Amino acid sequence: MLIRETHSNDLEMILAVEKAAFEIEPIVVNLVSELLNDPSAQPTLSLLAFQNNNPIGHILFSRVKLENVSLISASILAPLAVIPSSQNQGVGSQLVQTGLDILSRLETALVFVLGSPAYYARFGFQPAQILGFDPTYPILDKNIDAWMVKILKPNVMNYAKGKVICANALNKPEYWIE
Ligand SMILES: CC(C)(COP(=O)(O)OP(=O)(O)OC[C@H]1O[C@@H](n2cnc3c(N)ncnc32)[C@H](O)[C@@H]1OP(=O)(O)O)[C@@H](O)C(=O)NCCC(=O)NCCS
Repeated sequence: MLIRETHSNDLEMILAVEKAAFEIEPIVVNLVSELLNDPSAQPTLSLLAFQNNNPIGHILFSRVKLENVSLISASILAPLAVIPSSQNQGVGSQLVQTGLDILSRLETALVFVLGSPAYYARFGFQPAQILGFDPTYPILDKNIDAWMVKILKPNVMNYAKGKVICANALNKPEYWIE
């Protein structure tokens, strides 16, 4: 399997992967197009996974800010997509880990995600609210463990707190339901 960063002419392949993975949630496909074109989401990190030259997985990270703390480099992972015929073969895991490795090299301090704790805990994501990071929109108490953070630079935890403000394209309540 090959994983590489995407270019502007990869949009068709990216959307094909997203459509196959999120067949029952087409809203996510629009989100990807919008985020890639949203200046407030930059810098994004967009990775495609290929098997035999065919795109089988995609992951997107976009920039977020903390409401009351400047000068912290932080991202959010949304969405992660693997085409059905390639699921449960480690593709999603390799995309997450490759993305975290690249972001770490780029000095990103924090990476947020709203997703399955059972899935994301294996990469070191931990519940974010209890660490002082409020989600952009409130999450139901019973699902609050789905709001997670991966701490790439532990020193920022001395002062990093508060509400996470995401890019305009992601700043819509419909994307914050878990
Ligand atoms: C969720 C998804 C990205 C996982 O990618 P993948 O390549 O299939 O997963 P991996 O092979 O890396 O990991 C497989 C493990 O994840 C678990 N897993 C898969 N999907 C899961 C989910 N939605 N919630 C919790 N665990 C999940 C599997 O049970 C398996 O667990 P095991 O290692 O304990 O056996 C992929 O199934 C997918 O694209 N689903 C549709 C889109 C989606 O729901 N995306 C969610 C992220 S926004």
